[in-house]
Amino acid sequence: MSILIKNATIISHTDTVRADIIIEDEIIAEIGSNLPNAKQVIDAAGKFIMPGGVDPHTHFDLPMFETVSSDDHYTGTKAAAFGGTTTVLDFVPQSPGTLQNNIKVWRAKADPKAAVDFGFHMNITHLDDEIAAEIPSLPEWGITSLKVFTAYNGRLRLQDGEIFKVLRIAAKSNLLTMLHAENGDVIDILVDEALTAGHTKPEWHALTRPAWGAVEAAFRAASLAAQAGAPLYLVHMNVSGEVDQVKYARMHGLPVMGESCPQYLFFSIDHLRRPDGAKWVCSPPVRSPEDNIGLWQGLRDGLIHTIGTDHCPFFYNGTQPIIYEGQSVMIPGKELGVDDFTKIPNGLPGVGDRLPVLWTYGVRAGRITPNQFVALTSANPARIFGLYPRKGSLQPGSDADLVIWDPDRRVIYGVAHAHHRTDYNLYENWELVGYPEKVFLRGHLIIDGDRWMGQPGMGKFLPRSKGEVL
Ligand code: URP
Ligand code: ZN
Ligand code: ZN
Repeated sequence: MSILIKNATIISHTDTVRADIIIEDEIIAEIGSNLPNAKQVIDAAGKFIMPGGVDPHTHFDLPMFETVSSDDHYTGTKAAAFGGTTTVLDFVPQSPGTLQNNIKVWRAKADPKAAVDFGFHMNITHLDDEIAAEIPSLPEWGITSLKVFTAYNGRLRLQDGEIFKVLRIAAKSNLLTMLHAENGDVIDILVDEALTAGHTKPEWHALTRPAWGAVEAAFRAASLAAQAGAPLYLVHMNVSGEVDQVKYARMHGLPVMGESCPQYLFFSIDHLRRPDGAKWVCSPPVRSPEDNIGLWQGLRDGLIHTIGTDHCPFFYNGTQPIIYEGQSVMIPGKELGVDDFTKIPNGLPGVGDRLPVLWTYGVRAGRITPNQFVALTSANPARIFGLYPRKGSLQPGSDADLVIWDPDRRVIYGVAHAHHRTDYNLYENWELVGYPEKVFLRGHLIIDGDRWMGQPGMGKFLPRSKGEVL
């Protein structure tokens, strides 16, 4: 099957050009002018064409506290597609047993359900000699990145020495270490004190996880990486001071990169103080308006390299069903923490919101250019995580994952547009200008206006190579 897309304005991470595109089967065959006609012709005059989004940070079907994140690998990837994202990188939790077995379990969940292409990062949350010996095999199973944590004591955290060991093994094995930066010890003390004093509301989630803990842990991680001779990627940067740590590390020639997420660019502790503040509970927490500004500056200065979502949705009220694809669905959610902020499942919906919200409030607002938008949301994650130029790029030979973007479509956005399997959206009633019109996954039209044309299982697992240091 061949498709000719005519009169397109193609936005890549480096250029904006007028050209036609020919798709042959699943691949971009040609880009140029006056290309021969094809079986199907789409006139994209007045539209932009961008590579499908690559979201480097999702948590589908993730057990947490007494529940599970409410999007599985089908509903979450369908929502991603509606928002113009055609590749997601999901985290494999480490459970007892071998890493290989953990990965098999996650593949068994994702393979039959994923509706866009996907890869995995491996969490390392328990280290012993067997696990240390197994880490170098991760690339054989298509995984070239792992995540470690300096917080969530007794659950996910590794000690500094263990993080140093993981960094060293990872560097030798062509793996990129990703790090969740917060101070787990301080958090535990502050949480105990807050609960003893009877503070139970969502704002205490942020007040017990101080910004300085994130800054200090980011610096600690960069120093551990330097001592291990390893590259480092800070996930979900949320504090302006973390940008300073990336700058400091890079000034010293260290290969340190970072990711932020829309929630840290647009929201603050003021949102946690609303009566429905539990909707904004995620870890690390949303911070201050000054941090929002500092993170935007970090993006413009090239000190934050990607924008992911950390998509990890829960219902706001999991005692009331919603209708999803004609079925009634109800999954316990944020109400679990109505009397105790520590019991609110941590995480937010966002995988479908990322591109539309960032287009209006990033590009149209003049904060980033269209090319920076493509770099941050597609090309850079593909490059850093070893998927480029198959993903994140529109060039002959790349997968034909592309979005035809209507820059004039106005939408009053919210839960009805987002397609996440949850009962709320953080951007309810936000006015958006510019929206995906058609989305192709490897040449298959999966979104046509408001119509879903995709299917569970059509997303392929992406074995990844060693990524680039940007
Ligand atoms: O609140 C969040 N982000 N939950 C997911 C776990 C993590 O640390 O990314
Ligand atoms: Zn994290
Ligand atoms: Zn996460």
